[in-house]
Amino acid sequence: NGSLDNDIEHVLLSTDQINARLDEIAADISRDYADKDVLVVGVLKGAVMVVADLTRRLTIPVSMDWMAVSSYGSGTKSSGVVRILKDLDADLHGRHVLVVEDIIDSGLTLSWLVANLRSRGPESVEIATMLRKPDAAKVEVDVRYVGFDIPNEFVVGYGLDYAEQYRNLPYVGTLKPEVYGG
Ligand code: PRP
Ligand code: MN
Ligand code: MG
Repeated sequence: NGSLDNDIEHVLLSTDQINARLDEIAADISRDYADKDVLVVGVLKGAVMVVADLTRRLTIPVSMDWMAVSSYGSGTKSSGVVRILKDLDADLHGRHVLVVEDIIDSGLTLSWLVANLRSRGPESVEIATMLRKPDAAKVEVDVRYVGFDIPNEFVVGYGLDYAEQYRNLPYVGTLKPEVYGG
């Protein structure tokens, strides 16, 4: 096929919608964390786009660090059992940690991650996520900043992948069924 857009069934969130919401969230974060020593923690790989676009809108200085985690267990769905593939470089003692995610689906990844980060002695841990699927939640996760609540359907783009592709779509959309090989 060759063209990225060809595989998209419908656009759920346009680039303009994403950018407008990022402006609002960045203003909230800049206000809430004024005069604080903030460490933004991006969760690889999905959060790369959000971290890049959100932090460039902040009017406060922040540090950035990255973690890569993997759910393991059965199949492709989160099991709640998480393995650290790449840990943070930073010491969290006394830091204000803002975990940034592309999406909260079941909530299992972040629920585990936040507990893990809290055990490292930070001053605070909060979450910012671009997307959240309330109907898919298996555990409650206390999220401070949410871009959009979306329906429980499979979406790609803006960091979200299907088989490691579509992360570079500049918007969020659903895939045509034939793309899944169905
Ligand atoms: C996706 C997404 C979140 C997580 C959400 O990451 O980026 O990190 O799943 O799912 P949950 O709320 O059900 O736990 P994935 O594990 O696919 O890795 P990736 O970011 O590298 O795509
Ligand atoms: Mn992820
Ligand atoms: Mg993924």
